[in-house]
Amino acid sequence: MIMLKKSPCKVNLLLNILGRRPDGFHDLETVMQPVNLCDELTFERAQPGIELSCNDKSLPVDGGNLVFRAAEKFFFAAGISDGVKIHLEKKIPLAAGLGGGSGNAATTLLALNEMFGNPLAPEKLSEIAAGLGSDIPFFLQHQPALAVGRGEKIRALDNFPALANRAILLIHPGFGISTPWAYQNLARFPNALNGQPGRAQQLVTRLRTNDLKTAASDFYNSLEAPAFEKFPILKLYKEFLAANGAAALMSGSGSTTFAVCENATVAREIGEKFKSKFGPNCWMAVVGLD
Ligand code: C5P
Repeated sequence: MIMLKKSPCKVNLLLNILGRRPDGFHDLETVMQPVNLCDELTFERAQPGIELSCNDKSLPVDGGNLVFRAAEKFFFAAGISDGVKIHLEKKIPLAAGLGGGSGNAATTLLALNEMFGNPLAPEKLSEIAAGLGSDIPFFLQHQPALAVGRGEKIRALDNFPALANRAILLIHPGFGISTPWAYQNLARFPNALNGQPGRAQQLVTRLRTNDLKTAASDFYNSLEAPAFEKFPILKLYKEFLAANGAAALMSGSGSTTFAVCENATVAREIGEKFKSKFGPNCWMAVVGLD
């Protein structure tokens, strides 16, 4: 029997870095919103061992892939010596700030736990997820969330009224940004590195009203500072989208810019204007909120 799972991505409506920690990570507060752009994963029980394949040949299919590592950790923690064949069909751009790889790892943990009769409790899955990467626990659930710590401490939230029936235009510039690079380079921007806590809660309060415009004035991402310095085009993208009436921000450590639009028709119109202005080279998608 083959198990098919969709693996969604996210945007960060706010990513406020609060300072560098002794362990080299950064404390932060972030508001994460699931987005309905998905990779697909299939799982099939097999002889002992993990066999991973992927349509994107630029991705490793061994321990360099988070899906492989998640499967390894699952089998070890569950004490299971069976194996699995996994295929990953990528649709989410790579190194894009959309958490595609993190979502793939979380989906793998959830799928294998289901396939083998739920040997691991949710707390154990969260612990394994947090060990694999800061964003991964978020993808074990399917709601918007406020996350703190290094991003692994999740408080799930109800869907935001301000985002009801909205659509998101995603714009990927055709190059990725490495997350470690973005965090390292934040050191040169002391204001962005040492944000004041409380902005996430304020944004959440505003997202609970119907007033997207007011809520969007609280969208913020500390990691825009290093990203915009190295890639000024990303700042121009954001300004263009804002000038066209959308609430725009870079997601995560970049390189994707997203724009929350009134609805899908408006998002497509803004996408067309964007293409006329900047040419056809960016990857674009109009997606709903999961
Ligand atoms: O946890 P994850 O593997 O996603 O982190 C990738 C890198 O991003 C870390 O090695 C670290 O350099 C940086 N990072 C950080 N603070 C965080 C999350 C990530 O410094 N809260």
